[in-house]
Amino acid sequence: MVNWMEIDQQVKMWIMEAGSSIRESFQHSLSIQTKSNPNDLVTNIDKETERFFISNIRKTYPGHFILGEEGQGDELASLEGIVWIIDPIDGTMNFIHQQRHFAISIGIYENGIGRLGYIYDVAHDELYYAERGNGAYMNGVRLPALTEVPVEKALIAINATWLVKNRYFDEKKLVSLASRVRGTRSYGSAALELAYVASGRLEGYLTMRLSPWDFAAGKVLVEEVGGVVTNLWGQELDMMKTNSVFAGAPGFHKKILTDFLLKK
Ligand code: IPD
Ligand code: CA
Ligand code: CA
Repeated sequence: MVNWMEIDQQVKMWIMEAGSSIRESFQHSLSIQTKSNPNDLVTNIDKETERFFISNIRKTYPGHFILGEEGQGDELASLEGIVWIIDPIDGTMNFIHQQRHFAISIGIYENGIGRLGYIYDVAHDELYYAERGNGAYMNGVRLPALTEVPVEKALIAINATWLVKNRYFDEKKLVSLASRVRGTRSYGSAALELAYVASGRLEGYLTMRLSPWDFAAGKVLVEEVGGVVTNLWGQELDMMKTNSVFAGAPGFHKKILTDFLLKK
């Protein structure tokens, strides 16, 4: 039997420790490298934070698997067993440029089902977490179930990039949605944007290309408050690939799919 409560206590301690080290790193200069393109950034702190989690997980839970953004985890072909899906710093560009609006994101899955999700807003010291079936919380305060809001009163997160011609989705549909809602925002951290949907600060989040470590924790959180997380076609997310992502309360999610995203 997996002791989820014990794992929960352990991971929270590690997250707090990692958060302190990251805040301390603001005093020192960063070593910044690029990955797939000049705007795809990684720092020594992203790598050190991932290494910190991985070495602790390996020592404490040797039978568990790890999928980490910076590639220091396992090479996995499936989510069989218990898999920790880790983004040590989600929002690295914000971390470098602003020292805020970035998060540690950890989802713990069992045979493909999200059991635990943690998103720690390091600069604001806000920990969002959820255990499947046992509620979602922010700093110990239970998050209420999502409420439905009409499209005209909704605040959604979408990046301006997706409103110009792109190869992933018909931008005209997204422009039509963006002009109908009350307002749009873009925070630059998928994990935080999902945490904001879960905590009712946003009614929806839409984006075109996220990796499993960007949404693994957020999916657990949003679902635990009754929300729905799919791709932009309303299909289930593939936890082993990049996906488009659309999160919101069920009625709102359905309405946006019918009236905008899937509209002929
Ligand atoms: C990025 C952020 C960003 C999203 C990108 C991600 P990273 O993660 O979540 O908001 O738009 O697609 O890659 O690289 O900062 O961990
Ligand atoms: Ca990320
Ligand atoms: Ca990252």
